[in-house]
Amino acid sequence: MKVFAHRGFSSRYPENTLLAFKKSLDFDIYGVELDVHKTKDNKIVVIHDESVDRTFDGSGFVKDLTLNELKSFNCRLDGFKDNPECKIPTLEEVIEIFLDSNFVLNIEIKNDKVSYENIEQDVINIINKYNISDRVILSSFNSNSILHCNNIDSCIKTGLLYYYNLDQVVNFAKSLNASSLHPPLHLLDKELVDLCHKENMYINVYTVDDVEDIYKNIELGVDGIFTNYPDIACNVLKNILTFYEN
Ligand code: G3P
Ligand code: CA
Repeated sequence: MKVFAHRGFSSRYPENTLLAFKKSLDFDIYGVELDVHKTKDNKIVVIHDESVDRTFDGSGFVKDLTLNELKSFNCRLDGFKDNPECKIPTLEEVIEIFLDSNFVLNIEIKNDKVSYENIEQDVINIINKYNISDRVILSSFNSNSILHCNNIDSCIKTGLLYYYNLDQVVNFAKSLNASSLHPPLHLLDKELVDLCHKENMYINVYTVDDVEDIYKNIELGVDGIFTNYPDIACNVLKNILTFYEN
């Protein structure tokens, strides 16, 4: 099973920061997950929420602030407030961390609440600038955005995110040309895994942090998990390997 460090190594370091992403490289995992928004001056930045207030010591929506303004904020987490690697990074800064690795980047386009004009094209331009289209998954809760990404560049894999039960969700994801379905843990069951695989679709589940849930995902045949605890997920996978070797 593939492990993605969700927002970097976010259980230990400030989420979606260069520090959290660098620390994820210490693990033998498949990749990382990160969230992108667009600034007032049209730069793609990596942060989870639409506004900076929860994670940084400023206030306001990303869409209303310039990159310089966003860079002036420090993260709120004790012990990391003055750390220069804990500012809001651009997508390019995050990609550069992984250029010498084989990590896959699941870039979540966060446009289900705020609509950012041309964000799909902007993100894909950056991916192509770094020539990493073969190790990127673009995901979104916004199904139009998934369709748009596939129309712009069908070589880049896409994953449909959802939170509430959706009728015919696998067929819907297929109709968007998504290559994977990204359900929340609470909607995971064997039937969904089997249906995805029957329809040649990968299933990557979020957010899987408990040991029991990690085992459950492995048992059900889930393809990938997003976890804030890549350390714990690696230990579980190592234990299973040791069990089968002995
Ligand atoms: O991509 C999986 C997960 O990150 C989606 O939810 O709210 O953590 O961005 P959220
Ligand atoms: Ca996310």
